[in-house]
Amino acid sequence: MENRKTFYITTPIYYPSDKLHIGHTYCTVATDVFARYKRLRGYDVMFLTGTDEHGQKIEQKAKEAGKTPQKFVDDIVCGKGGILDLWKLMNISNDRFIRTTDDYHVAAVQRIFKKMYDNGDIYKGAYKGKYCTPCESFWTESQLKDGMCPDCGRPVHDAEEEAYFFRLSKYAKPVQELLESGTFLEPASRVNEMINNFIKPGLEDLCVSRTSFSWGIPVDFDPGHVVYVWVDALFNYATALGFMNDRYDDFGKYWPPVNIVGKEIVRFHSIIWPAMLMSVGEPVPTKVYGHGWLVFGGEKMSKSKGNVVDPYILADKFGVDALRFFLLRTFPFGSDGNFTNELLINTINTDLANDLGNLVSRTTAMVEKYFGGRLPAARESGDFDGELLALIASTAEKYAAQMDVFQPHLALEEVFKLIQRANKYIDETLPWALAKDESKKARLATVLYNLLEALRVSLIMLTPFIPASCEKAFAQIGADKAAQSWDSAAVYGVLPAEVEVHKGETLFPRIDTQKMLEELEATHAKPAPKIEYPPVSPDVSIDEFAKCDMRVCKVLSCEAVKKSDRLLKFMLDDGSGTPRQILSGIHKFYEPEELVGKTVVAILNLPSRKMMGLESNGMLLSALRMVDGKEDLYLMMLDDSVPAGAKLC
Ligand code: MSP
Repeated sequence: MENRKTFYITTPIYYPSDKLHIGHTYCTVATDVFARYKRLRGYDVMFLTGTDEHGQKIEQKAKEAGKTPQKFVDDIVCGKGGILDLWKLMNISNDRFIRTTDDYHVAAVQRIFKKMYDNGDIYKGAYKGKYCTPCESFWTESQLKDGMCPDCGRPVHDAEEEAYFFRLSKYAKPVQELLESGTFLEPASRVNEMINNFIKPGLEDLCVSRTSFSWGIPVDFDPGHVVYVWVDALFNYATALGFMNDRYDDFGKYWPPVNIVGKEIVRFHSIIWPAMLMSVGEPVPTKVYGHGWLVFGGEKMSKSKGNVVDPYILADKFGVDALRFFLLRTFPFGSDGNFTNELLINTINTDLANDLGNLVSRTTAMVEKYFGGRLPAARESGDFDGELLALIASTAEKYAAQMDVFQPHLALEEVFKLIQRANKYIDETLPWALAKDESKKARLATVLYNLLEALRVSLIMLTPFIPASCEKAFAQIGADKAAQSWDSAAVYGVLPAEVEVHKGETLFPRIDTQKMLEELEATHAKPAPKIEYPPVSPDVSIDEFAKCDMRVCKVLSCEAVKKSDRLLKFMLDDGSGTPRQILSGIHKFYEPEELVGKTVVAILNLPSRKMMGLESNGMLLSALRMVDGKEDLYLMMLDDSVPAGAKLC
């Protein structure tokens, strides 16, 4: 056991700035599947995940929440329904969890920073640039996309500060060589993206300290500076093994890692990260795999767009394993995938309820019905056996070939070919017909045994994806530990000849699509609406503007105009002592009774006009925007302390 090969795999560390959503869950479940697969293959695995807790964004969020940053992140990471709970729920098998506020990490990052300063790779200078607060990223003018942050598309602002710089430019050549050599960065398409977008235009030195806020790891030899959050964050992969600290002692054993990351942070992981490792003289990761995003209605999920899918709700409705399976079966790992509830339900019904679930329940039910739960030892081979047995012998190798290159959806495709073949084998061999003929008992036992064997090897391969369900299914088909091992995944005849089955609960109940969609509709966020922002109108002079006499008015009465479905008739106190009548076409947005007594704004010096035979002496001001092509209107209302007659200027 001591000489087992090691495998170190990591997720990105998540920002505990909000609850995590299905996109984050996708990334962690995928990494968990790879970790479990390598354990199945006999590797000594170290699987790390954690949280990235420093930086301006967290500091701001904590302030908004009225908490200290530490309390704020503690609540999101360790609180009920927080990040630790989510990973527990999702059956994530991480060996370690790092928080960048952990003492040992903080001290180690300070030592690492000092080491790079001492070796001349970090120097002091002045930084001028464009800063994106949500992404914690400085950008140069040329990197902006239409003047906005190239990562998240949000506005950036000018920022200047005295700062330390990392000599990233010095590492441009070795990093380019690394990117071009072998399979350091995958999928391969991301290599050109990195070289063309970042290396070819010239790698500039990277600003690696901040003075504009304090929630970070202090540069211990220069108080007032905190370490740039990405330097702090990237080194988590090393400090969690004990690099530059004595909390752990596993760096020599497990380094270097496989870093699984989302596509928008590939730049940090495939350029900055290896450059800094070269600077401290440590090996670069064996691989950085940049997976795609789960998108919702074509857009990236984000709280601000209101299209966040909650993994707690999905796990509750569908079960953890069904959710884990769906995420990896449906979306090619390197590409973006569009999440829909329909797709989720279809995948569960087709693959899990129909193909896998039915195979387990039909097979075990037949062993119970025809043989009282225990197969007799007598065998008789026959037609159709050959193809099924050949697949039993050959699937594991094809599955492994795909898992080894981080293509879980293709690995699952191989497993389902076998499962589908086994279902077809039932239709071909007609066990219910064999059961009617006493002389065919040996043949019937063979058919059922072959089905159990097909199931057994399929379950071995499915274990990394749906571990809890496989455990139950192994018990149902009478597979002991040895019959669950990878070594037996391509071997026919591992179950005992007189295998005993135990028909159990239905593993994956069929979902009523319509009913479930309605239930989800009630709980889930809708796709982000399309909001128009028309261009700002041409300039007007201040004199022209001043001609508009806009006054604060109190609504004395308000009623719907008969025979009009739009118009409301207002009597207003405009401060003059004489009530003023104004008509406004806002009935679609307000009921008259809710407006009585409100403080509104009207422009008074418009020529009076008649509508539906009634006079209107002015116009009420409203704010209007277009959402999904429809009007969305808000009558302008002021605080009731503002007196009638006051003039807007
Ligand atoms: N803290 C940094 C990572 C530092 S690693 C040294 C960070 N955190 S994050 O919480 O914003 O994102 C963590 C991971 O979640 C990223 O890999 C990101 O791609 C992934 N995802 C966030 N939303 C996602 C989807 N909608 N779909 C798939 N993955 C997504 O970045």
